[in-house]
Amino acid sequence: MTKFNDGTVAAIREYWDTHTLGLQYVRNPGLQVGSPEFFAHIRPWMNAYKFPWIMQRIEQEASKLKGRHLLEVGCGMGFDSLEFLKRGVKVTATDLTPSAVNLARRHLEIEGVTPEDVRVENVLDLSYADNTFDAVWANGVLHATGDTRRAIQEVRRVVKPGGRAILSHFYRKPSWMYILSTLGRENIEYREEDPPVNEFYSEQEILAMFEGFAIEETAREHYRALPIARRGVKAALYTWVFRPVYNLLPQTLAEPLAYKYSVIAIKS
Ligand SMILES: C[S@@+](CC[C@H](N)C(=O)[O-])C[C@H]1O[C@@H](n2cnc3c(N)ncnc32)[C@H](O)[C@@H]1O
Repeated sequence: MTKFNDGTVAAIREYWDTHTLGLQYVRNPGLQVGSPEFFAHIRPWMNAYKFPWIMQRIEQEASKLKGRHLLEVGCGMGFDSLEFLKRGVKVTATDLTPSAVNLARRHLEIEGVTPEDVRVENVLDLSYADNTFDAVWANGVLHATGDTRRAIQEVRRVVKPGGRAILSHFYRKPSWMYILSTLGRENIEYREEDPPVNEFYSEQEILAMFEGFAIEETAREHYRALPIARRGVKAALYTWVFRPVYNLLPQTLAEPLAYKYSVIAIKS
């Protein structure tokens, strides 16, 4: 496998360590980060609650993985790990950043669930032995690592033969978000600056990175423009012009411009 770029990983770590996904949704600055009220406040904005297809995927996969051991990479504040744990899956939750790991640990403790472990791990260089886990879950992570191919192959290494890589999701092109991201520098998804890396790939490029896997399921997702928490000129144009017009498109026209692509693959 190619060696990843340490400098890129350091920049990614530095960004996410101060921008843990969820912080941008806090509307009440008086909330104490890490309190039960804090997690309840941002929950509706988090992926699994905002996008029904993600919760469906968690439910579908949890029913297959009950009592088995799932590794989450890039867990952020641990919302997805929590949903797997609530459904009887054994979970090790990991993230590149200490701040995410601390928040995830606190979150799971507040919810009264017990993970196998919560720890810092780099998905480009996992500390686990080959063939350790029954499944790996990543949600919005691998295209943000700076070396997506290596991340997928590292996931493959730690999954048992026949185990499941549930990779929900990659950023897709062509897509409405890809087009929007090229129109002016101001982002719409993140309150301050963008993450240092968020790569967009065509479906063919994504599938070509799954060497040594059998593809079980793929899905184009997020082909409706949803509300965003961001404010500013570009966000206002998104909210009042782009979103209502795009959302009028029938599914047959909107779906080819889907923003995200998810893959479930089985280790051969
Ligand atoms: C968009 S956030 C998604 C967080 C979480 N999965 C969720 O949906 O709430 C991306 C996450 O990937 C993590 N990440 C980025 N590069 C990583 C790497 N090389 N190894 C592990 N995690 C990484 C970041 O620290 C961040 O928490």
